[in-house]
Amino acid sequence: MPSIASKRKLRSSATTPLPTTASPPTRKSPRRCTAATPNSVTTVVRKILTDENHIESCELESKSVRSRWNPKDGEQLRMVKEVLHLSTAPSTMVCREEEQNVVLGFCKGCVEHEKAGSLYICGCPGTGKSLSMEKVKVNLRNWAIEGGFSVPEVLSVNCTSMSNTTDIFTKILGLHKTLGKKDSGTPLKQLQNLYSHKSPTTNMILIVADELDYLITKDRAVLHDLFMLTTFPFSRCILIGVANAIDLADRFLPRLTALNCKPSVVTFRAYTKDQILRILEERLNELPYIVFQHQALELCARKVAAASGDMRNALSICRSAIEMLEVEIRDSACNLNTLEEKSSSEQNLPTAPDFVKKQEFDMVRIDHMALALSKTYRSPVVDTIQSLPHHQQIILCSSMKHFRGLKKDSNLGELYKSYAGICKSSLIPPAGIMEFSNMCRVLNDQGLIKLGQSRDDKLRRVTPKVDEGDITFALQGIRFFRNCLQ
Ligand SMILES: Nc1ncnc2c1ncn2[C@@H]1O[C@H](COP(=O)(O)OP(=O)(O)OP(=O)(O)O)[C@@H](O)[C@H]1O
Ligand SMILES: [Mg+2]
Repeated sequence: MPSIASKRKLRSSATTPLPTTASPPTRKSPRRCTAATPNSVTTVVRKILTDENHIESCELESKSVRSRWNPKDGEQLRMVKEVLHLSTAPSTMVCREEEQNVVLGFCKGCVEHEKAGSLYICGCPGTGKSLSMEKVKVNLRNWAIEGGFSVPEVLSVNCTSMSNTTDIFTKILGLHKTLGKKDSGTPLKQLQNLYSHKSPTTNMILIVADELDYLITKDRAVLHDLFMLTTFPFSRCILIGVANAIDLADRFLPRLTALNCKPSVVTFRAYTKDQILRILEERLNELPYIVFQHQALELCARKVAAASGDMRNALSICRSAIEMLEVEIRDSACNLNTLEEKSSSEQNLPTAPDFVKKQEFDMVRIDHMALALSKTYRSPVVDTIQSLPHHQQIILCSSMKHFRGLKKDSNLGELYKSYAGICKSSLIPPAGIMEFSNMCRVLNDQGLIKLGQSRDDKLRRVTPKVDEGDITFALQGIRFFRNCLQ
């Protein structure tokens, strides 16, 4: 894994019970509105195609239509960016089916048995917790209607939006207003009172408290009182708390644990490379054209999975890679103008070369992605590799291929053969063995490889010192290495 990994993360796609390892709760600043516009992109896509009136909507899936991406078209660009925007809820959500089923199953059980209960959802940022809760709410409602159960009232609160932590009780009480009964005391007291006595049947209430850690007060009272509401004999609350810290329940709800009322925990693990790739592809499938080269998406998925598994990062890096393509197109348009001006003044010269014109239908390539990634994840190792002279980069590339999956070390003579092989296949004259050996010494001094001692230079032991991912990442943007790195 590349060494740029900076965040603590949980891995695997499975839903597991609360791990025992402790981790401090993470506080985050209030953020983003997730106003959903589920079908807006598809609608716009259809509209534009209809406006252009040559393409039937049934052709949307066809390869020929999907290949008509023109990044110079402002409207297309806008749609692509919208599909990748954080506030655009995808019409289908993949890779979180298991977690959603656990939460949905829990809610269904509560509704079926008219029994209160609590659940705590945790996981690193950008792992689809909030988005999944939106799906669960919709699915629970549909299930209740289909099954003839009374549909639970839903209260969704982003705790960061409350000016006072106790406002949550006011909001819950607000859902019971239909009872029309006047009571005295604080909203919390009124709720405790309400849930202590049998009362005229009211619907169950599903409370989704997102960013729950904002309710942690010095005395932990609010969080505690909130979860305790589900333990009252006539409580109607299905409480789902969502936050990042995996041990929030253990740390802040010890009394609930003592009472054996600790909420069950569902952990959202960091997305893996394959999951990130699948999610990106699924979102992009809503477009009638292919925008990214597959390798570019794969690179993004690999780097983001290694660093954080945060889907938010993957989406914004993809949008940034599109901007790299836009810059390239703008630059080539300038060149095109210059060339055309030149050719009209020098009559016999041909007009702009084809490759410049072809840019019009170009896709977001791996080099755009590498640039976008490097803006997000700078690492000293990657910087060092990128600033090496070309032949030293070739040596690193050949060492990576040489050591890949095979051995942990080798010797200079063997590495030289690998290096010379790459040079020859790329029609570059290789350096002689003496020069090669000197370059390896430089790489050794930079900490990129480790050279052992031997009287015979060729027999000096070589051990890789940098991660394969860092080498790939650093060199991917350089055209020369694109084939070598496969
Ligand atoms: N499985 C998925 N499919 C499509 N998009 C996803 C998926 N998971 C996450 N996303 C996208 O990633 C972004 C972050 O997801 P979400 O807000 O659900 O994360 P979170 O786990 O609640 O993060 P945080 O802990 O920071 O609140 C959203 O824009 C969402 O659309
Ligand atoms: Mg969230």
